[in-house]
Parts: sequence; structure tokens; C-alpha cells
Amino acid sequence: MCGIVGYIGRRDATPVLIQGLKRLEYRGYDSFGIATVGSAIGVYKKTGRISEGEAGAADLHGYAGIGHTRWATHGEPSDTNAHPHTDCEKKIAVVHNGIIENYSELKRQLEGRGHIFRSETDTEVIAHLIEEHYDGDLLAAVNATLPLLKGSYAVLAIAENTQRIVAARDASPLVLGVGDAEIFAASDMTPLLEYTERVIFLEDGDVADITPDRFTVYHEGRVVERPVELIDWCVEDTRKGGFAHYMLKEIYEQPQSFYETIRAGIDDRVRQMVMEAGEITLVACGTSYHTALAFKYMAESLCSIPVRVELGSEFKYFTPPLRGLVIAVSQSGETADTIAALKMAKARNCPTLAITNMQGSTVTRVADETLLMRAGPEIGVAATKSYTAQLAALMQIVNLRCEGAFDDALSHAHLAIGDILLQDVHEAVALCSKADHVFFVGRGPFYPVSMEGALKMKEISYVHAEGYAAGELKHGPFALLTEETPVVAVCTPGPTYGVMASNIKEMKARKAPIIALGVAGDTELAEIVDIFIPIPNTHLLVQVLTASIVLQLLAYHTACALQRDVDKPRNLAKSVTVE
Ligand code: AGP
Repeated sequence: MCGIVGYIGRRDATPVLIQGLKRLEYRGYDSFGIATVGSAIGVYKKTGRISEGEAGAADLHGYAGIGHTRWATHGEPSDTNAHPHTDCEKKIAVVHNGIIENYSELKRQLEGRGHIFRSETDTEVIAHLIEEHYDGDLLAAVNATLPLLKGSYAVLAIAENTQRIVAARDASPLVLGVGDAEIFAASDMTPLLEYTERVIFLEDGDVADITPDRFTVYHEGRVVERPVELIDWCVEDTRKGGFAHYMLKEIYEQPQSFYETIRAGIDDRVRQMVMEAGEITLVACGTSYHTALAFKYMAESLCSIPVRVELGSEFKYFTPPLRGLVIAVSQSGETADTIAALKMAKARNCPTLAITNMQGSTVTRVADETLLMRAGPEIGVAATKSYTAQLAALMQIVNLRCEGAFDDALSHAHLAIGDILLQDVHEAVALCSKADHVFFVGRGPFYPVSMEGALKMKEISYVHAEGYAAGELKHGPFALLTEETPVVAVCTPGPTYGVMASNIKEMKARKAPIIALGVAGDTELAEIVDIFIPIPNTHLLVQVLTASIVLQLLAYHTACALQRDVDKPRNLAKSVTVE
């Protein structure tokens, strides 16, 4: 939610900031803005997408600056509410990711002391508080301001006539990139890839004083050393590479990202943790919650480990009794609800493991150990390759507990993933793109696969979709079935095949058109449904992957048919850093 970027060095800051914001746009895209510093502060901010408004920033110049791309929390998306925000005299500018929970009270106090506010945001209080403490020393003014703030923040501040940026983080991510006589700051690594591979992940409570050739990190007033780490992503990974959308590119990258995640394996410390676990609890949100649910089915049925899956947002307020290993699953590693749940598990002395795609992200700092997925940067808001890479990580845990029983299936899965990408889904797309409602149903691990199919469909095509356990539909939702309500059913060989086939017939009897995913050659199933989509007749674990990818393709092409903004669906942001 919201992306921030800062630059100080020998280049003109404006193009660096604009380019950086474009890389972060997936974190929020209702408005954007930049501020540069020279003898005065110059600010440009605009509602809408960066590509539509960036030309207006061309007149700003400076060797230092800050930028922000917004997902509105306080105040509607507007030019005025867009960041950066300035103090009364426009001598100080700040960008902020996070939420200042006590902003109303601070605002009332500041107004009482004569400060004039321009926006409805929580962030503007930071600029005015810095103003109150500023006597030419920006670091001191920021240090005096931070203890007054309650909530979460990653903040960058600049002041006129000052060749420095002061950066601070608490419960929102902030990374520094170290170049040659230039330093970058950003919410995540993606804007830095173009310029440097050397990064520093700031910790909660850190304040960094940044000049072009030097940065000093303070923690509780003392200078601290933070390690410089090397990023193993490259800038090409963040380009669209000729695809119409990032989402399509990322769908097509799945053979490789799955393979790389399997190839990276599990290190000894994580192995030991997994082998010692008597029970496992997973905490996650959204798509990551669906991969966690799929894991529960696989782990409980294939290797008899008791598994509990909790939504991060619920866990925090209704923490269940905990025993055993707690795994946080998060592509971004920055989802506030998942982090809160992970912290609660730590507080209860549970061993904790993070499964994430983001090196250095907050979950990696909180958890005892990390299992890093190798999906590479995922820019499309809809999770695709990160979903299958999460499955790769979780399936390896199942495999480990089953003494390598699925070695063969996992080492060949990328080939089946490659084949399924060629699957034609256009008939199903024609049906779904005309529908107002679509049901997705399955049993066992295909139930979470169906939930994920429905989430993909609704988030990018805006067609209302529900993922259901196939047996549950007749306990209520049958009332909604008509000839205009397609049902996408996953029905593959196994113990539930017969009962799934019966469910499909019951739905047909209510006139619902059925789109069935079944194994290639299942003519019996093909005959009773309206549209049959074959997936390879492979191991169950591989079927979970191939069925999921068909549903990604279905959602993607439906969204395209409806001319949706596939990579940046309305009202969403990729990284949900507020609770
Ligand atoms: C799904 O396509 C979304 N991007 C969303 O549901 C996402 O999975 C959720 O916000 C959790 O994100 P995380 O994996 O980064 O924690």
C-alpha cells in the first residue's frame, strides 16, 4: 500500500524518482507525486496513473528528491491529498507509507498552534511536526517528531537548502540502495535494480541520515551498522518483455519459477524445524491463504501432519491455542495482518518460519527462519507465479515429511506446467465474460484451488465469483443456479471423482452451464458437461498446479475480454501494509 522512493546523488532526481515510482506503482496507483530540493522545495503531484501525469513533473530539477505513489487511506484520491506533503512554509516535504493513528489529535494540537493544513491525510501532521522542530538540522527535527507518532511509517523527509534525505521506518518497509556517490531509498528493491545490487534493509526504529556519498543509520540514538546485502534479481525481471500484461508474462514464467523454487530446496535449519514439528499452523491472507489451505489438504492426507490454517486478520484478534511450528506465507513479506499474526506466534514462543518471495522483507526479519521462493519480481497485482512458487515451497515440506515420496512428481512438475500454458480456454471465457456470477467448485485440495480461481476472476475481471467446496453448494447456493450462472468444476480421478460427478449432474439439473476441468481422455465427464478443459493425467500434486493455471488463464482472458485494467485492478494494491 503506497510506495515511496528517494534519491540523492549526481543525477537529476526527477527521472530517477518517476521511474522508481513506476516500478512501485503496483503498491498503489490512485495518485502520485514527487518533491525535489535545490535552493527551494519543488512539488508536483497528480491524481491518476503516472504515465498519464508524469509530463507535468518535467520542470522540477534537483540532485535530491522524494516520491510517492498512493493507495488512499485518509482522504479520497485527489491532487491535494497526494504526497509529498509540506509544512506551512513549504520548506519541508515528506512522503509516508503507513498510518499515523493519532493524527487527529496531533492535527488539532498543530492547528491550535497556528499550522495551516491543506490535505485530509494523516501524513501531513509529520511535515508540520518537523517544521516545529526544525532549526536547520533536519535529522534532529525528524528525531524529535518520531516519538510523537503512533502507528506505522516509512518516511522520507527533505528540507530546502539541505543536500540530505532523512529516512525512518517503523512497521513499514524501507530499503536503501548504495550506488557510486549516490544513494536510493524505496519501499522495496524493485526501483533499485536499475542502479545497484547493494542494498540495506532498515529495521523498525531505524533512522538514516543520507547524503550523496554517505549514510548513517541510527537506532535509539546510537549509530548502528546494517549489513549491505546483494540482490539476486535483475532489472530485466521487472520488464514486460513483449507481453500485453505483466500478469500474462508472470503466468508464462511459472515453469521456471516453480522449477527454481524446487531447485533451491530447503536448507538444513528449515529442514530440522519442519521435521521436528508435531503440528503446523499457517497464517496468511488472500491468495497466500489459499496456498496454505491447499497445503493443509496435502499434508494431512499424504503425511498425517495436523495442520491449522488461519487468516492473518482474524488470528490477531482471536488467537487460537498454539502448539508447534507456525508458518507465515506471504509473497510480499509485508502484509500487515500476516506480520501481526507472526509476531503473536513469536510472542507465544512458537518456532516460526516465513515463506516469502521478498529477500529482506519484514516477515524474514520477524520469523526464526525463512524459506525463500524463487519467483522473481511479481508486478501484476494478481498473484500468479508467486502462488505456484508458494505451492512449490509448501509441497517440498510435504515431500520432506513423506521422506521424498514425491521427488519424481516435483522434479517433473515444471514440464506439465509448461504444457498447460498452451491450453485453449476461449469457450469458457465466452461464457464467463457474459455472466454476472460464476461458481468455482472442487473437493479436497481442489477446493482451495477453486477459491483461488474465484479470487482471480473477481479481482481482475470484476465478475462476481465464489469458490465453494462442491458438496456445499446444495446447502444454499443452489438457489442461485440458473442457465446464466456458469459453474467451473474441477473433477479429477481419485476418491471424490464419483461424488463430484454426481454434484455436477445435480448442478446441470438446475440448468447451470458446467465448465469442467478433468484429466485428458475422460470422455465420460466430457459428455455430461458443457465445456471440458483437459489437464494432464499426472500426480495429484501436479494436478493442483495445472488446474490452478487453467483458472489463472480463464480469469486473465475473461478480464481482457471485458477490457479490464488487468495489472492494476480498481481499488486494489499488491502489498497490503495496513490492517
Ligand atoms: C491476490 O491476487 C492478491 N494479490 C492478494 O490476495 C494477496 O495474495 C494478499 O494480499 C496477500 O499478499 P501477500 O502474499 O503478499 O501476503
